Amino acid sequence: MKTCVAITGVHGYVPEYVLTNAELEKMVDTSDEWITTRTGIKERRILKEEGKGSSFMGIKAVEGLLEKTNTDPQEIELIICATITPDLIFPATSNIISHAVGAVNAVSYDMQAACSGFIYAIVTGAQFIETGKYKKVVVVGVDKMSAIVDYKDRATCVIFGDGAGAVLLEPNEEGLGIVDSILKTDGSGEKYLYQKAGGSRRPPTRETIDAREHYLYQDGRNVFKFAIHKVTSISKEIMKKNNLSSNDIDFLVPHQANTRIIEAIIQRLGISKDKAMVTIDKFGNTTDASIPLCLWHYEPKLKKGDKLILSAFGGGFTWGSVYTKWAYDGC
Ligand code: UT7
Repeated sequence: MKTCVAITGVHGYVPEYVLTNAELEKMVDTSDEWITTRTGIKERRILKEEGKGSSFMGIKAVEGLLEKTNTDPQEIELIICATITPDLIFPATSNIISHAVGAVNAVSYDMQAACSGFIYAIVTGAQFIETGKYKKVVVVGVDKMSAIVDYKDRATCVIFGDGAGAVLLEPNEEGLGIVDSILKTDGSGEKYLYQKAGGSRRPPTRETIDAREHYLYQDGRNVFKFAIHKVTSISKEIMKKNNLSSNDIDFLVPHQANTRIIEAIIQRLGISKDKAMVTIDKFGNTTDASIPLCLWHYEPKLKKGDKLILSAFGGGFTWGSVYTKWAYDGC
């Protein structure tokens, strides 16, 4: 029989600095009214301290997770870090995190699937437990989006924020945990959401920096359409595969990109508003951290056996969905 793999703990970290819509009004030609009605975001957190990268937030999230779950760092066998804003191009941010938290027996590596990264990473981490290779796997989703956001571009700078969320994956004897998953990729989406320069195709030069090509670029309108269409269809697909009706779902955990996207998806799925986890008003779009931050925020409301659908989409294009039965009562 297949080993069930469950999330047995979740913890998050967001930086203290709150970047409000009022402050953004002073930086670019925008308004609290536009940001609120078009995105649902009221504020986002920014890691301001010089010299601190994604690992700083990832370490905080993992340390909190280990403490909360009473886990000895030496017992961790694998740490996967999902990020598009690594501290360095190499070595991996997960290595920096595992060293800092004392996970001396863990192998660690990064994964990159943009806003779907956390979903890709938990599906990957769970396989190591399913096959019997490992028993304790940590997955951390973290992004310091402020490092790649152009604070002169009003179309993107109002959206993104910084944060980290981490989960512990372990075998479950009660048949709870991840029941099913679907991952999808369409590389033709590259042109809609990407960082034009800074990688090996176009290494950073004075010209690329002057042209502001080391910042994130997004064709918002096209990504918006893609997101609604693909997240709705993949969520429907996983529900159908597992004979779930919208009434069976206790929580939908959607990637936090835009309140209008979340509302369109729940309406198409026939899921009531109170069942959708929403943190975008507080944290904005934190890319790889968005889903674990939702789980962390809503953890007190979760009950053992609750049926959750986690669904995300992002640059690439990438999208994915996980159906999981929650394994413990929230605390
Ligand atoms: O997580 C990764 C995946 N990303 C996403 O899912 C994001 C998907 N896209 C979106 O959420 C939305 O497309 C945005 C929030 C990015 C933009 O909202 P929109 O309703 O699609 O706006 P738009 O891009 O169609 O722009 C409408 C107008 C434009 O002005 P004109 O051309 O109609 O005169 C923009 O220049 O709004 C203008 N605009 C702004 N105005 C005030 C764009 N950004 C702003 C702003 N403040 N911050």
